[in-house]
Amino acid sequence: MPVIAFANSKGGVGKSTTALALAQVFAKGSSGVTLIDADPNQPLARWAAQDPDRIPDTLAVLPDITEETIVDAIDTAAARNPFVLVDLEGSANVAVSYAIGRADLVIVPMRGSQLDADQAARVIKLVERESKAYRRTIPYVVIYTCTSPALRSRGFRHIDPILAENGIPVLAARWWNGRPSAPSSSSAARSTTSRTTKSTIPAPPSTTPKPWLRPWSPSSMSARQPRM
Ligand SMILES: Nc1ncnc2c1ncn2[C@@H]1O[C@H](COP(=O)(O)OP(=O)(O)O)[C@@H](O)[C@H]1O
Ligand SMILES: [Mg+2]
Repeated sequence: MPVIAFANSKGGVGKSTTALALAQVFAKGSSGVTLIDADPNQPLARWAAQDPDRIPDTLAVLPDITEETIVDAIDTAAARNPFVLVDLEGSANVAVSYAIGRADLVIVPMRGSQLDADQAARVIKLVERESKAYRRTIPYVVIYTCTSPALRSRGFRHIDPILAENGIPVLAARWWNGRPSAPSSSSAARSTTSRTTKSTIPAPPSTTPKPWLRPWSPSSMSARQPRM
């Protein structure tokens, strides 16, 4: 059953929050969701432990998942539950690679900033490498988080068209303060998950080289340490 991994090597972009929100939506509407917490900081396991009563019966949070256990955890959960969501650490480690290798969809949350986009690009490159290694297309899609649909920051105005030009699929909806927002006309137009097809998995990304995956500029790279 569908395995959805949340990946971006940058921390604080909304991976855990988006995974949890989606898990709760699926838990309401389906017979079962497993939320795998593969972040050593255990944000979702801690959330679950705070108040176990608020967790619906249809939602299971699996804590303490490491690179040794993640593949079996995903496979076992996928055999039992209609949905498996995997929240990953904000880095590029072996567990992240394994989860991407098992995913039916990789959701790449990012805010509308160049720094986030740079790390998102690293994850997308990893997904594309794994697609080649496993000889199967692993679909991915970017979701803008913490990005107001009303206030289009300078970084967002720079990055959004570059993603569009390079055929990077972007979800029409954005997460803003915990609420999904209406899609902008530009992202709605190019989104592979428009209102009429929003329950479908995005079309496989193109495998053509993406110029935006290269460094933006020497000055923009100088403050960053590559993590992959
Ligand atoms: N859609 C959103 N709108 C506003 N704030 C958000 C949103 N998603 C996450 N946040 C906030 O951003 C911070 C980092 O989110 P988190 O999900 O922990 O990121 P990550 O898992 O990528 O490290 C948290 O304080 C969270 O409440
Ligand atoms: Mg997290």
